[in-house]
Amino acid sequence: MEYGEFLRRVPKVELHCHFEGTVRAATAADLARKHDIALPTDDVEKLYDYDSIYEFLKIFALVSSALIDQEDFARTSYESLEDGVKLGNLKYREMFFNPTLHTSRGVPYKTVVDGLVDGIHAAEKDFGVRCRLIADVYRQDPPEQAREMVEQVLEHRPDELIGLGMDGAEAPDPPEKFVDAYRLAKQGGLRLTAHACEDAPAKNITTCLDVLGIERIDHGYHVLGDDAVVQRCLDEGLTFTVCPTATAVCYFDPDDLTKHPIREMAERGLKIMLNSDDPTMFHTDIGSEYDRMTRAAGWPPERIREFVLNGVDGAWLSDDEKRTMRKAFEQELDELQAQLDQPARA
Ligand code: ADE
Ligand code: ZN
Repeated sequence: MEYGEFLRRVPKVELHCHFEGTVRAATAADLARKHDIALPTDDVEKLYDYDSIYEFLKIFALVSSALIDQEDFARTSYESLEDGVKLGNLKYREMFFNPTLHTSRGVPYKTVVDGLVDGIHAAEKDFGVRCRLIADVYRQDPPEQAREMVEQVLEHRPDELIGLGMDGAEAPDPPEKFVDAYRLAKQGGLRLTAHACEDAPAKNITTCLDVLGIERIDHGYHVLGDDAVVQRCLDEGLTFTVCPTATAVCYFDPDDLTKHPIREMAERGLKIMLNSDDPTMFHTDIGSEYDRMTRAAGWPPERIREFVLNGVDGAWLSDDEKRTMRKAFEQELDELQAQLDQPARA
């Protein structure tokens, strides 16, 4: 088996993928027609074109505005998981969504979350993939709005909803802004993560750990700017959910992943695992992310195995569930590795 195929077929966990960023262009066009919503172009693929986080977030919101009925959320979450399975052998995902992006335009929170759960159940039935949900604070929202969102989440909370995260543009809105929302989420029993050090210095990780009580870091690239914080993350075995393409497009060099900070993070022993972030909106998928980043970094199959198992380890499943998943993954990895052309070259 050729290395690219191996990378696509490796069983995968994703811990950093935004539901709204997985909407297929064709589905966005379809739903916009259904609800009579004007998009700036009929060729929606052309919408997915930006080179900064700010431009991206505008399109992210615009496409989301075509999601209105519970069935829209069910259809798109189903398709999102179908793509993960078919394009990258996705087995389990903890998927972000932004409640306030929908509630602020009049869609009831219950419609959003119930629709997502409908799609998740249907995808599990059809493809065997499992998925849990993480409600994300949108960092450009006022702190009170974030706190109210957490109240809503805790009031209507299906079993699938397990955590709180934080996204949006990082530089203007640091993590300490949302200490109340995180405190409430923690009291309510939610697991905690946050986007940090995507576009801000390493001190944001320290704040996330010490002030918000987070358990994972989404992105984390600028940790490399502070050796003491790197050492702390190593000592604490902190999981970094990293995303090659989306970050390269917004912040680094989209055409050359060889200099992507993920490579150095891995070299320094940080516990990374690979993710697609907003796959359709960055013209990628989870299989391609493994392929592109691995070729750029020159990682051998043993390294991929380690990153895949970091994903299992970092998941918010019970220890029993993780043991079972780890065993199944190890067996599938053994079988795939045995079929690999030798020597495997990145
Ligand atoms: N929203 C969706 N994807 C994001 C990312 N990578 N960074 C910040 N906010 C986001
Ligand atoms: Zn993200």
